[in-house]
Amino acid sequence: EKPPVVVVGSANADIYVEIDRLPREGETVAARTGQTLAGGKGANQASCGGRLAHPTYFIGQVGDDAHGRLIEDALSSGNVRLEHLSRVAGAPTGHAIVMLQSDGQNSIIIVGGANMSCWPDDPREEDLEVIRRAGVLLLQREIPDRVNIQVAQVAKSAGIPVILDAGGVEDPVPKELFNFVDIFSPNETELARLTGMPTETFEQISQAANKCHKMGVKQILVKLGAKGSALFVEGEEPIRQPIIPSAKVLDTTGAGDTFTAAFAVAMVEGKPKKECMKFASAAASLCVQVKGAIPSMPARAAVMELLQSIQVEDIM
Ligand code: RIB
Repeated sequence: EKPPVVVVGSANADIYVEIDRLPREGETVAARTGQTLAGGKGANQASCGGRLAHPTYFIGQVGDDAHGRLIEDALSSGNVRLEHLSRVAGAPTGHAIVMLQSDGQNSIIIVGGANMSCWPDDPREEDLEVIRRAGVLLLQREIPDRVNIQVAQVAKSAGIPVILDAGGVEDPVPKELFNFVDIFSPNETELARLTGMPTETFEQISQAANKCHKMGVKQILVKLGAKGSALFVEGEEPIRQPIIPSAKVLDTTGAGDTFTAAFAVAMVEGKPKKECMKFASAAASLCVQVKGAIPSMPARAAVMELLQSIQVEDIM
């Protein structure tokens, strides 16, 4: 087996409400439609790895309830290994209210539930064992920092690269966690929040990434929405990648997770950094064309087909 992608993180039932606009204070608006789909930043990233046909393990927690079963079904049918997913009694599965607007943009409120409670004081030995033989460890910020620090430390001492996606709580990233992170991946808003610096222009983003380097992380992979992405490796020229335009944008939920996880898969498979970014952009471009987070993770064949069609266009 290839060294697996191991994701430690959150799983949510995404409760979608499709609206024309967000309600104002004190106002009630009717949604056009609603449905519950599997999501959560950790589960999304694991699902992306599985759909890209890379061996992928998910270490997380769901409640013993219908939402937990929805997530388990979605992940296992997407090829994700679930031996390390715990079903915990006494806490509901995490959930998210996803307010999806007609242009595909969203606003999300998360309720931590099992993602935040019931993690053992010390990580389970069987979880550590799979982390020690991983190709990469992927983390986000929807579970307690304490757990992220514990698993990142184990990965770091085993020489396993650690990618931290900044998505999740607004609290500052603990310095201790940063010490164990090889690649930090915020979007421009998260980068601004973390550094206290503006991130409107590329120059500003570059300066903010530089501040992250000073905080101790050598590689900063910034997701810039419609402006693409950029990788800042300390002491090197930044690598920029424009977005690969999507035929239609139905729902951007999970696009950032897709980008980070697809980048991680390509990295473990030994692709050069520029190629990793292109692969990740193609995966994200396909993700936004389908509603839902986990339901929108693209299969590898679709990503390869999109990349090939771009190469043909490049030549013509
Ligand atoms: O990144 C998208 C995810 O954020 C959603 O699936 C939702 O569950 C929240 O965690």
